[in-house]
Amino acid sequence: MPENKEARSPIHVGIIMDGNGRWAKKRGLPRKVGHWEGAKTFKTITRYSKDVGIRYLTYYAFSTENWKRPQDEVDALMDLFDKYLDEFDKFIKDKVRIRFIGDRTAFSQKIRDKMQQKEEISAQFTDLNLIICANYGGRAEITNAARLIAEDVKKGLIEPADITEELMQSKLYTAEIPPVDLIIRPSGEMRLSNFLIWQAAYAEYYFTDVLWPDFSKKDLDKAIEAYKNRDRRFGGV
Ligand code: IPE
Ligand code: IPE
Ligand code: MG
Repeated sequence: MPENKEARSPIHVGIIMDGNGRWAKKRGLPRKVGHWEGAKTFKTITRYSKDVGIRYLTYYAFSTENWKRPQDEVDALMDLFDKYLDEFDKFIKDKVRIRFIGDRTAFSQKIRDKMQQKEEISAQFTDLNLIICANYGGRAEITNAARLIAEDVKKGLIEPADITEELMQSKLYTAEIPPVDLIIRPSGEMRLSNFLIWQAAYAEYYFTDVLWPDFSKKDLDKAIEAYKNRDRRFGGV
């Protein structure tokens, strides 16, 4: 696993970007304005994460369940995603590696092409690994892994007895990414909502009432500070 600047800092941080809608509602604005504001926070927090030495940063941007939202909100989110993909070039200039995880077949060809392009041009960078969960669901990810393994069994490449946790891990979208150490969820909700459910088996959680558009560098500092005070035992003593 990669070395980190400080021994007890989290190597992999996951963030559930929640509370955009409520942020807008509080101001009498359409929900999509909350998503735009949330995108600004994304930029600030990504830059700052790099500065504080986080190696892997995974954001929950759009879940497999978010398609249930009203069509106009889904459209606004797709539009924002499309536009925002161009902004990623700024991170790439800063040697950030970008990856998207989730089922991308649901996105438009234009969005898919942009996703692939950002991944390809940043593939050699290692300063910060930025992972965006787009049409991502932990259950879908695990189901997909099971399907891939079943295919290998059917082809006679492996036996059922060969199925180990390591093999499962190797079939996940996050095959090459270390487990998540710290999961941050703003907005006051205390749930995973299908985010990294396999990878979070031993994660620490940090919940705050702050809404994502208001989430600041200080809030990230607080989350990391809280993490450093946790006693991670992994089942040991
Ligand atoms: C998170 O903010 C953004 C997405 C899920 C895409 P929400 O839109 O869920 O905001 P709230 O929870 O309604 O406030
Ligand atoms: C989780 O937030 C998904 C993302 C932030 C992308 P939701 O707002 O969709 O989660 P629930 O519905 O409150 O559980
Ligand atoms: Mg929400």
